[in-house]
Amino acid sequence: MKITKRILALVLILAVSFVIYGCQSDGDAGGSDMSETMKRIKDTGKIIWGTNAEFPPFELRSGDKVIGVDAEIAAKVAEKLGVELEVVDMEFKGLINALNSKQIDFIAAGFTIEPDREEQVLFTDTYFRAVQTIIVQEGNTEIKGAADLEGKTIGVQSGTTGDFTAEEYTEDIVRFNNALEASIDLKNGRLDAVIIDNLPAQMIVSENPGLVLLDEKAAEDEEYALAVRKEAVDLQKVINEVIAELKADGSIENWVEEYSLSLQD
Ligand code: ARG
Repeated sequence: MKITKRILALVLILAVSFVIYGCQSDGDAGGSDMSETMKRIKDTGKIIWGTNAEFPPFELRSGDKVIGVDAEIAAKVAEKLGVELEVVDMEFKGLINALNSKQIDFIAAGFTIEPDREEQVLFTDTYFRAVQTIIVQEGNTEIKGAADLEGKTIGVQSGTTGDFTAEEYTEDIVRFNNALEASIDLKNGRLDAVIIDNLPAQMIVSENPGLVLLDEKAAEDEEYALAVRKEAVDLQKVINEVIAELKADGSIENWVEEYSLSLQD
Protein backbone atom coordinates (compact mmCIF):
# COMPACT_ATOMS: atom_id res chain seq x y z
CA MET A 1 0.00 0.00 0.00
CA LYS A 2 2.71 2.43 1.03
CA ILE A 3 4.65 1.64 -2.09
CA THR A 4 1.64 2.14 -4.33
CA LYS A 5 1.07 5.58 -2.77
CA ARG A 6 4.66 6.54 -3.32
CA ILE A 7 4.53 5.43 -6.91
CA LEU A 8 1.31 7.37 -7.38
CA ALA A 9 2.85 10.50 -5.89
CA LEU A 10 5.86 10.14 -8.12
CA VAL A 11 3.71 9.70 -11.19
CA LEU A 12 1.73 12.78 -10.18
CA ILE A 13 4.86 14.87 -9.72
CA LEU A 14 6.18 13.72 -13.05
CA ALA A 15 2.88 14.45 -14.74
CA VAL A 16 2.66 17.97 -13.27
CA SER A 17 6.24 18.85 -14.11
CA PHE A 18 5.71 17.53 -17.58
CA VAL A 19 2.71 19.79 -18.05
CA ILE A 20 4.58 22.82 -16.70
CA TYR A 21 7.60 22.09 -18.84
CA GLY A 22 5.38 21.49 -21.84
CA CYS A 23 3.65 24.84 -21.39
CA GLN A 24 6.90 26.70 -21.09
CA SER A 25 8.41 25.28 -24.20
CA ASP A 26 5.17 25.83 -26.05
CA GLY A 27 5.07 29.47 -25.03
CA ASP A 28 8.61 29.92 -26.24
CA ALA A 29 8.15 28.33 -29.60
CA GLY A 30 8.16 30.98 -32.29
CA GLY A 31 9.38 33.49 -29.77
CA SER A 32 12.93 32.82 -28.77
CA ASP A 33 13.96 31.42 -32.12
CA MET A 34 12.48 34.24 -34.21
CA SER A 35 14.79 37.20 -34.69
CA GLU A 36 13.70 40.67 -33.63
CA THR A 37 13.83 41.65 -37.29
CA MET A 38 11.57 38.80 -38.36
CA LYS A 39 9.09 39.60 -35.57
CA ARG A 40 8.86 43.19 -36.74
CA ILE A 41 8.42 42.18 -40.36
CA LYS A 42 5.54 39.87 -39.40
CA ASP A 43 4.00 42.45 -37.04
CA THR A 44 4.09 45.35 -39.49
CA GLY A 45 3.34 43.24 -42.56
CA LYS A 46 6.18 44.85 -44.50
CA ILE A 47 9.88 44.50 -45.17
CA ILE A 48 12.10 47.47 -45.98
CA TRP A 49 14.66 47.21 -48.78
CA GLY A 50 17.56 49.63 -48.80
CA THR A 51 19.41 50.46 -51.99
CA ASN A 52 21.05 53.17 -54.08
CA ALA A 53 19.05 53.23 -57.30
CA GLU A 54 21.81 54.56 -59.54
CA PHE A 55 23.36 51.28 -60.55
CA PRO A 56 21.79 49.81 -63.68
CA PRO A 57 20.95 47.05 -64.48
CA PHE A 58 20.72 46.14 -60.77
CA GLU A 59 18.74 49.17 -59.63
CA LEU A 60 17.62 52.36 -61.26
CA ARG A 61 14.69 54.72 -61.02
CA SER A 62 11.82 54.56 -63.42
CA GLY A 63 9.38 57.34 -62.53
CA ASP A 64 8.82 57.00 -58.81
CA LYS A 65 9.65 53.30 -58.87
CA VAL A 66 12.88 51.43 -58.43
CA ILE A 67 13.37 48.69 -61.02
CA GLY A 68 16.15 46.27 -61.96
CA VAL A 69 17.58 42.88 -61.03
CA ASP A 70 17.75 43.65 -57.30
CA ALA A 71 14.19 45.01 -57.37
CA GLU A 72 13.01 41.68 -58.79
CA ILE A 73 14.89 39.74 -56.10
CA ALA A 74 13.58 42.03 -53.36
CA ALA A 75 10.01 41.52 -54.60
CA LYS A 76 10.47 37.75 -54.41
CA VAL A 77 11.77 38.00 -50.85
CA ALA A 78 8.68 39.98 -49.81
CA GLU A 79 6.44 37.52 -51.64
CA LYS A 80 8.05 34.54 -49.87
CA LEU A 81 7.45 36.22 -46.51
CA GLY A 82 3.92 37.20 -47.50
CA VAL A 83 4.49 40.89 -46.73
CA GLU A 84 4.62 44.22 -48.56
CA LEU A 85 7.90 45.55 -49.95
CA GLU A 86 8.92 49.10 -49.17
CA VAL A 87 12.03 50.62 -50.76
CA VAL A 88 14.36 53.26 -49.38
CA ASP A 89 16.61 54.82 -52.04
CA MET A 90 19.63 56.41 -50.38
CA GLU A 91 23.33 57.17 -50.68
CA PHE A 92 25.32 54.00 -51.21
CA LYS A 93 27.78 54.69 -48.44
CA GLY A 94 24.96 55.09 -45.90
CA LEU A 95 23.48 51.63 -46.44
CA ILE A 96 25.29 49.71 -43.68
CA ASN A 97 24.44 52.35 -41.10
CA ALA A 98 20.83 52.44 -42.22
CA LEU A 99 20.68 48.66 -41.80
CA ASN A 100 22.21 48.59 -38.35
CA SER A 101 20.09 51.50 -37.13
CA LYS A 102 17.00 49.60 -38.36
CA GLN A 103 15.89 52.11 -41.00
CA ILE A 104 15.98 49.25 -43.48
CA ASP A 105 15.73 45.45 -43.09
CA PHE A 106 18.04 44.35 -45.87
CA ILE A 107 20.45 45.65 -48.48
CA ALA A 108 20.23 44.67 -52.14
CA ALA A 109 22.47 47.01 -54.12
CA GLY A 110 24.90 45.08 -56.27
CA PHE A 111 26.54 44.82 -52.87
CA THR A 112 29.89 43.05 -52.89
CA ILE A 113 30.96 40.67 -50.13
CA GLU A 114 33.98 42.23 -48.55
CA PRO A 115 35.88 41.43 -45.28
CA ASP A 116 35.30 44.85 -43.75
CA ARG A 117 31.58 44.67 -44.45
CA GLU A 118 31.38 41.10 -43.18
CA GLU A 119 32.24 42.43 -39.75
CA GLN A 120 29.23 44.72 -39.82
CA VAL A 121 26.49 42.80 -41.63
CA LEU A 122 25.36 39.25 -42.35
CA PHE A 123 25.67 38.41 -46.04
CA THR A 124 23.40 35.95 -47.81
CA ASP A 125 24.50 33.53 -50.50
CA THR A 126 25.83 35.16 -53.66
CA TYR A 127 23.85 35.71 -56.86
CA PHE A 128 26.22 37.46 -59.26
CA ARG A 129 29.93 37.55 -60.05
CA ALA A 130 31.29 40.96 -61.05
CA VAL A 131 34.62 42.65 -61.64
CA GLN A 132 35.94 46.20 -61.41
CA THR A 133 36.53 47.68 -64.85
CA ILE A 134 38.28 50.78 -66.14
CA ILE A 135 36.55 53.42 -68.30
CA VAL A 136 38.68 55.96 -70.18
CA GLN A 137 38.20 58.47 -72.98
CA GLU A 138 38.34 56.97 -76.42
CA GLY A 139 41.78 57.43 -77.96
CA ASN A 140 43.53 57.62 -74.60
CA THR A 141 47.06 56.45 -75.40
CA GLU A 142 48.38 56.83 -71.89
CA ILE A 143 46.13 54.41 -70.03
CA LYS A 144 46.07 51.03 -71.75
CA GLY A 145 45.96 48.79 -68.74
CA ALA A 146 45.60 48.74 -64.97
CA ALA A 147 49.30 49.47 -64.34
CA ASP A 148 48.94 52.80 -66.16
CA LEU A 149 46.50 54.00 -63.50
CA GLU A 150 49.40 54.66 -61.14
CA GLY A 151 49.10 58.20 -59.78
CA LYS A 152 46.26 59.15 -62.14
CA THR A 153 43.06 61.05 -61.27
CA ILE A 154 40.40 58.38 -60.85
CA GLY A 155 36.68 58.90 -60.40
CA VAL A 156 34.56 56.45 -58.34
CA GLN A 157 31.27 56.13 -56.52
CA SER A 158 32.06 56.87 -52.89
CA GLY A 159 32.41 53.87 -50.58
CA THR A 160 32.23 51.24 -53.32
CA THR A 161 34.70 48.49 -54.13
CA GLY A 162 35.64 50.68 -57.13
CA ASP A 163 36.69 53.30 -54.57
CA PHE A 164 38.77 50.73 -52.63
CA THR A 165 40.32 49.48 -55.88
CA ALA A 166 41.30 53.00 -56.93
CA GLU A 167 43.13 53.38 -53.61
CA GLU A 168 45.53 50.67 -54.77
CA TYR A 169 46.62 52.83 -57.69
CA THR A 170 46.48 56.46 -56.64
CA GLU A 171 45.87 59.01 -53.94
CA ASP A 172 44.14 61.28 -56.41
CA ILE A 173 40.58 59.95 -56.14
CA VAL A 174 37.46 61.98 -56.87
CA ARG A 175 34.45 60.51 -55.07
CA PHE A 176 30.96 60.98 -56.48
CA ASN A 177 27.50 60.07 -55.23
CA ASN A 178 26.94 58.01 -58.35
CA ALA A 179 28.92 56.70 -61.28
CA LEU A 180 27.03 58.75 -63.85
CA GLU A 181 28.39 61.99 -62.41
CA ALA A 182 31.85 60.46 -62.55
CA SER A 183 31.46 59.58 -66.20
CA ILE A 184 30.39 63.14 -67.06
CA ASP A 185 33.60 64.43 -65.51
CA LEU A 186 35.55 61.79 -67.41
CA LYS A 187 33.99 62.98 -70.64
CA ASN A 188 34.87 66.57 -69.81
CA GLY A 189 38.48 65.59 -69.22
CA ARG A 190 38.51 66.31 -65.49
CA LEU A 191 39.32 62.66 -64.75
CA ASP A 192 41.75 60.20 -66.33
CA ALA A 193 39.64 57.14 -65.64
CA VAL A 194 36.60 55.80 -63.78
CA ILE A 195 36.64 52.48 -61.93
CA ILE A 196 33.30 50.76 -61.54
CA ASP A 197 31.61 47.33 -61.70
CA ASN A 198 31.47 45.77 -65.17
CA LEU A 199 27.73 45.87 -65.91
CA PRO A 200 27.08 49.49 -64.94
CA ALA A 201 30.31 50.29 -66.81
CA GLN A 202 28.97 48.67 -69.97
CA MET A 203 25.77 50.69 -69.69
CA ILE A 204 27.68 53.93 -69.21
CA VAL A 205 29.91 53.25 -72.20
CA SER A 206 27.01 52.26 -74.44
CA GLU A 207 25.17 55.47 -73.54
CA ASN A 208 28.16 57.76 -73.82
CA PRO A 209 29.96 57.86 -77.15
CA GLY A 210 33.56 58.88 -76.56
CA LEU A 211 34.01 56.63 -73.56
CA VAL A 212 35.48 53.11 -73.77
CA LEU A 213 36.18 50.16 -71.51
CA LEU A 214 39.65 48.69 -71.19
CA ASP A 215 40.02 44.94 -71.66
CA GLU A 216 42.17 44.58 -68.59
CA LYS A 217 40.29 44.54 -65.30
CA ALA A 218 41.22 46.67 -62.32
CA ALA A 219 40.91 43.89 -59.71
CA GLU A 220 40.00 40.26 -59.02
CA ASP A 221 36.40 39.07 -59.40
CA GLU A 222 33.92 39.89 -56.64
CA GLU A 223 30.53 38.49 -55.65
CA TYR A 224 27.23 40.25 -54.99
CA ALA A 225 24.95 39.19 -52.15
CA LEU A 226 22.13 40.67 -50.09
CA ALA A 227 22.83 41.65 -46.50
CA VAL A 228 20.83 41.62 -43.27
CA ARG A 229 21.53 42.55 -39.65
CA LYS A 230 23.75 40.08 -37.78
CA GLU A 231 20.87 38.89 -35.59
CA ALA A 232 18.50 38.22 -38.51
CA VAL A 233 19.69 34.69 -39.20
CA ASP A 234 16.14 33.53 -40.00
CA LEU A 235 15.72 36.28 -42.60
CA GLN A 236 19.08 35.35 -44.11
CA LYS A 237 17.80 31.76 -44.42
CA VAL A 238 14.61 32.83 -46.22
CA ILE A 239 16.60 35.03 -48.61
CA ASN A 240 19.02 32.18 -49.31
CA GLU A 241 16.06 29.98 -50.28
CA VAL A 242 14.80 32.67 -52.64
CA ILE A 243 18.24 33.13 -54.20
CA ALA A 244 18.65 29.38 -54.68
CA GLU A 245 15.29 29.19 -56.49
CA LEU A 246 16.02 32.20 -58.69
CA LYS A 247 19.44 30.89 -59.63
CA ALA A 248 18.12 27.40 -60.37
CA ASP A 249 15.29 28.49 -62.67
CA GLY A 250 17.44 31.00 -64.58
CA SER A 251 15.52 34.07 -63.37
CA ILE A 252 18.59 36.00 -62.29
CA GLU A 253 20.33 35.48 -65.63
CA ASN A 254 17.17 36.48 -67.48
CA TRP A 255 16.73 39.65 -65.45
CA VAL A 256 20.37 40.62 -65.96
CA GLU A 257 19.85 40.32 -69.69
CA GLU A 258 16.42 41.94 -69.69
CA TYR A 259 17.46 45.04 -67.73
CA SER A 260 20.72 45.42 -69.64
CA LEU A 261 18.91 45.29 -72.99
CA SER A 262 15.95 47.45 -72.07
CA LEU A 263 18.34 50.18 -70.98
CA GLN A 264 20.33 50.12 -74.13
CA ASP A 265 17.57 51.07 -76.51
N1 ARG B 1 29.69 46.36 -56.06
C1 ARG B 1 30.16 47.61 -55.56
C2 ARG B 1 30.19 47.59 -54.05
O1 ARG B 1 29.59 46.77 -53.44
C3 ARG B 1 29.32 48.78 -56.03
C4 ARG B 1 27.89 48.72 -55.70
C5 ARG B 1 27.15 50.01 -55.98
N2 ARG B 1 25.74 49.81 -55.85
C6 ARG B 1 24.82 50.77 -56.01
N3 ARG B 1 23.58 50.41 -55.91
N4 ARG B 1 25.15 52.00 -56.22
O2 ARG B 1 30.83 48.39 -53.44
